[in-house]
Amino acid sequence: MSAEFDTVAEWTADVAVELGPDHHVPAGCRGSGSPAALDWLVERLDLASGETLVDCGAGVGGPAAYAAQRTEVRPLLVEPEAGACRAARTLFAHPVVRADAAALPVADGSVDAAWALGVLCTTEAQLELLRELLRVTRTPGRIGLLVLVAAEPLGEAEVPEGNHFPTMDAFHRLVDEAGLRVDEACGTDQLDPVPGEWSRRVDAVTAELTARHGDDRAWQQAERQSDLIGELIADGRISAELFSLRRRR
Ligand SMILES: C[S@@+](CC[C@H](N)C(=O)[O-])C[C@H]1O[C@@H](n2cnc3c(N)ncnc32)[C@H](O)[C@@H]1O
Repeated sequence: MSAEFDTVAEWTADVAVELGPDHHVPAGCRGSGSPAALDWLVERLDLASGETLVDCGAGVGGPAAYAAQRTEVRPLLVEPEAGACRAARTLFAHPVVRADAAALPVADGSVDAAWALGVLCTTEAQLELLRELLRVTRTPGRIGLLVLVAAEPLGEAEVPEGNHFPTMDAFHRLVDEAGLRVDEACGTDQLDPVPGEWSRRVDAVTAELTARHGDDRAWQQAERQSDLIGELIADGRISAELFSLRRRR
């Protein structure tokens, strides 16, 4: 996991800088976000100009930058991997802190909204993550998630290293235990496809990364990981789900 989220993150930023500013956000979203998924979250969280948004597990920072470009929200990126923090600083002008979701360095009720995209399924501390997102957001607790959810529990050997896909039932139990409720949900397969221009930019970044680092172990591990997840999605074993959450009254 560290290969993907640390080393490859820095390589991605280097490539995006050379390809130009119009490649920065698509490159920074290679970790999970598509424009339609981000639009859905921005709208459901009702993000507005000048409001603060914690992006927990921000990766290279593309999703937060997308939200800032669309709404002029002010993101704070939180990310445990040093390479990803540096990559986000290289590509975007938003503040980044290196920290873990289970202990966000953010005061209680001090931000307007928070999201964690593709993060809950990469940590065992899932309840802690949800509790922290709730702790730092002001009432009503506008929280967004993108989660890879398992249709049925997967065998241990089937789960790509470092992933912990909850079933939908397990996810709902977690949300409830954290003191949250699901306000709205949507499978990403219900959303508009990725625009051609965005895909072309992501493909250009990937082609350049492969050309430069195809022989590197870190790149091969990251590719293997993403292929395994792609296969599980194609087989209907897991799916990418969006959630808009609020504090449970
Ligand atoms: C699939 S990537 C998604 C990155 C980014 N959110 C995006 O959508 O492009 C998962 C991210 O979660 C981060 N992560 C993993 N465990 C974490 C934890 N315990 N706390 C915070 N972030 C974590 C990883 O370092 C990585 O950047």
